[in-house]
Parts: sequence; C-alpha cells; structure tokens
Amino acid sequence: MDILRDNRRCNYAAARDFVKGVGTNSTARKPKGSKWDAAGCGGVTSPGSESFSGNVQAAKTMTEKIITLIFGKRGGGKSYLAAVLTKQIRRVLVYDTLGEYRDGFVFQDLGDLSRFWKRNIRGAFRLIYQPTNPEAEFEDIAELAWLCGDLTFLVEEIDIFCSPHKIGPAFQNVIQRGRHHDINLIGISQRPFGIHRLLTSQAKEIYIFRTNEPRDREYLRNLLGTEIEATLDGMAQFEYAKWMDGKEEITVGKA
Ligand SMILES: Nc1ncnc2c1ncn2[C@@H]1O[C@H](COP(=O)(O)OP(=O)(O)OP(=O)(O)O)[C@@H](O)[C@H]1O
Ligand SMILES: [Mg+2]
Repeated sequence: MDILRDNRRCNYAAARDFVKGVGTNSTARKPKGSKWDAAGCGGVTSPGSESFSGNVQAAKTMTEKIITLIFGKRGGGKSYLAAVLTKQIRRVLVYDTLGEYRDGFVFQDLGDLSRFWKRNIRGAFRLIYQPTNPEAEFEDIAELAWLCGDLTFLVEEIDIFCSPHKIGPAFQNVIQRGRHHDINLIGISQRPFGIHRLLTSQAKEIYIFRTNEPRDREYLRNLLGTEIEATLDGMAQFEYAKWMDGKEEITVGKA
C-alpha cells in the first residue's frame, strides 16, 4: 500500500493501513549529542500493533491547543523562534521543507518516518521530516499528524500548503478540528499575503518579524491594525511583534 501514490485511498483508513503495513528498520539520522538521547526519545517503545488513531485518547493534556503563526522575511529568526517555542514540548513533528532543523530524529523517507513513529507513538518524540516533494507529501503527513494526535505539528513554508485558493482536506481538518485531537499547529511563512484565510482566522498567536514587502505589510495592516506598521519599523534584528487573540496590545520580544 502506497498512500503517496494512491489518491483514492488517501483517507484515514488508508493512513492506518499504511502505518500497520510498514516494517521495523528505521534509517533515521540521530544527531550526535542531541538532547533527545538524554530524553530517551528513541528508547520509548511500545508494542508495534497500535494504529495512530489509537493514541488520540491516550494522553490528553489540560492545556488548550492552539494555532500559532510566524511570519517574516528570510533570515529574520522564524525557525529559531519555532525551535525555542517547541524546545520543552514532549511530542513534536516538524515538516521541514528547507532542511533547517537538527534537534531531533531527521527523516527523508515517509516509510522510515512511519516505522519509527509507530514504535514511539505513546512516548516523547521529536521527528523532523524533510520531504523530497513537499507539496505531494504534505497531505499524508497532515493525516498522520491527525491520527496520532497529542502533538505539536510545526510546518515550514505553510503558504505552499494552504494558498488562498488551495488547501487539502487533511490539513483543513487539522486546522479546524486539531484542537479536539490535542494538536498544536505552528505555521511559518515568509509570505503572509499568500496563505488561506482559514488559517489566519483560527490563529491565536501571530509572531511577525521584520518584513518589507508592500503586499505583506498591507496584508498585516488589514489583519492586525495600522499600528503594526510602526511596530515593525521600530524593531531591531531578531525581534518580533506578537499579536494574541483577545488582547489589544501588540508586544515586541526576542527569542
Ligand atoms: N534570537 C536570536 N538570537 C540569536 N541568533 C538568532 C536569533 N534568531 C535567529 N538567529 C540566527 O539568525 C539566523 C537566521 O535565523 P532563522 O534561520 O531562524 O531565520 P528564518 O526567518 O527562519 O529564515 P528563512 O525564512 O530563510 O528560513 C540563524 O543563523 C539563527 O541562528
Ligand atoms: Mg527558517
């Protein structure tokens, strides 16, 4: 069963078949001296029989699960901030389209990722998936994240997967109903202008690094109010403006 190539079976049942059907040899690259060695990430194993969906009820946490967005131009500090935000989180899946993340188990093959993930599904994990074909593979990963539940799903270049005109059903599900599966979503983009409104409308926190692109500035003005412009103009290197749903004030900070 190859859910990557069989669109007709790209549903939750197919994803479950997929993770049940894979073997046990993982070729994950584990960075030397990673804190995940100390945390025992790779050693937390469970019987190989459970499916991703079986975990959803297993480890509910009390904290509210939210959508966080991080915007800003290249080199501004988005991924650095995302790494800081997820440092203390027990279960993290990174969709690392630019190959920027090192702290965790790095995979470039969906089969390897699934095998490893399945064996660690009840424990702590920090999985970094670097897709060879980011657009084609994303829906499958979003579906597996949904089935696994109780995790933080960190997505780089999120604008690729949810443009104003295109968003896949599995990812839409994560955005709209991820809270019920204990999924935090962190989406990162250089181009806020180019993302689906569903995402911004559901976001609880937005971090904005320096950005000069007129279309993005206009988009941010419309989204967050005119004062964002002055805030952005006054920010130093690696500083961000932070908007939180329900709070009037936009604060400035640094990771
Ligand atoms: N708060 C910070 N303190 C120190 N160094 C930082 C900080 N934020 C970012 N950096 C450094 O600046 C560089 C660029 O940061 P980062 O990779 O997070 O940018 P980015 O916004 O993700 O860029 P891109 O859009 O190209 O992925 C990195 O080398 C990172 O280590
Ligand atoms: Mg980055």
